[in-house]
Amino acid sequence: MATTYDLDTVRGELPVLHDWIYLNTGTVGIMAEPVLKAHLDYLAHYERGGHTAQHVAVESYNHSKLKLAELLGVDPADIAFNRNATDGINAVAAGFPLQPGDEIITSTEEHPAMVIPWLAACDRNGARMRFMPISADSDQFVANLLAQFTPQTRVVTISQVSCETGVRLPVDLIRGIVGPDVAILIDASQSVGQFEVKIPKLNADFVIGNGHKWLAGPKGTGFVWFKPESIHLAPPVYFHSETVDPHWSRDYYQSDPLPAIKVSGKAERFEFGTRSWHLFGALANAIEYQATLGWPAIENHMRTMSNHAKESLAEIPGVRVLSPGEWEDSSGLVTFSIAGMQGELASQRLWDGYKIAQRRVASPSSVRVACAYFTSAEDIQCLVEAVDSLARHG
Ligand SMILES: Cc1ncc(COP(=O)(O)O)c(C=O)c1O
Repeated sequence: MATTYDLDTVRGELPVLHDWIYLNTGTVGIMAEPVLKAHLDYLAHYERGGHTAQHVAVESYNHSKLKLAELLGVDPADIAFNRNATDGINAVAAGFPLQPGDEIITSTEEHPAMVIPWLAACDRNGARMRFMPISADSDQFVANLLAQFTPQTRVVTISQVSCETGVRLPVDLIRGIVGPDVAILIDASQSVGQFEVKIPKLNADFVIGNGHKWLAGPKGTGFVWFKPESIHLAPPVYFHSETVDPHWSRDYYQSDPLPAIKVSGKAERFEFGTRSWHLFGALANAIEYQATLGWPAIENHMRTMSNHAKESLAEIPGVRVLSPGEWEDSSGLVTFSIAGMQGELASQRLWDGYKIAQRRVASPSSVRVACAYFTSAEDIQCLVEAVDSLARHG
């Protein structure tokens, strides 16, 4: 399928592209002008109107949850909004019932946002983490998982797409290996918005993600999806009126003894207090914006651009592409190393000398670029010429 949207029009709605070659949606996305306008309108309306505007802000928040739920193929009631992916991982890890000796499996290519909350949970409870190498190959993935799986395994917590190399993992296979009693958390930060992610197909208990990368929504938007049967495994550690069931009321003062706190079984128990409702209003606009371009067309475009980048970079002497060649095994993230040059230095040179926004990968020392729905063949050409020059002259 060819790109069916007009790339020039799309790029015209992203003014930063006049000055930069933006290949870093994997870190933060850039917001299209129509979405930004809606975002600023929501902000102004709520901040100017305060309480008089709150119902509109809350409605837009709820509408956004419907849109996200539709995209992910789940019930909106099972989604809690929060600030970012890190928030979502913490929401699950903070109260997860671990016993001394329990084990948690994750991969060697996780973002620290995944590792640290679970490490803290292990420290509190006397549990330990085990790390598996990743592979897009199903047999190898299963073998790697089995090598770390023991009778003590309680949780498998892993990204669907590695933020280091863009490898896409067959995470739907995990359930078949670990059985029904091990909790599975999938970090979809690098997958939602890149290709179709329908949560029911992942066979997971918890799925977390954010709105600010591939959905190109506002910074400060994240989510967790809870499988209703598993939400008891994530008891909240913050409490508010929505955390308890029935919700708090002033009648509590009349009762003696005070009613026992019964924690709500709903995802909303993780949402509390006065929030940036307006941010989420704009998340719906961001989702709608890309949906109008067409998700299949976007995916096809990213496949074409990332293939082009991988093939062209691989032809440069001294350059090694670390991301898999096949789209089904990979994503819009393309990671490569340059012989004799640390990733950090190469990344800095690409920023300073060529105005190419990307990021370094620490280990193996390399550079990661992200091909998004707006990436052009000219962007890739500029990248390839810059990398060629770095590989030749340093
Ligand atoms: C796979 C993965 N998980 C988690 C995070 C952290 O995301 P956030 O900044 O939304 O907390 C990132 C950010 O790059 C990521 O790539």
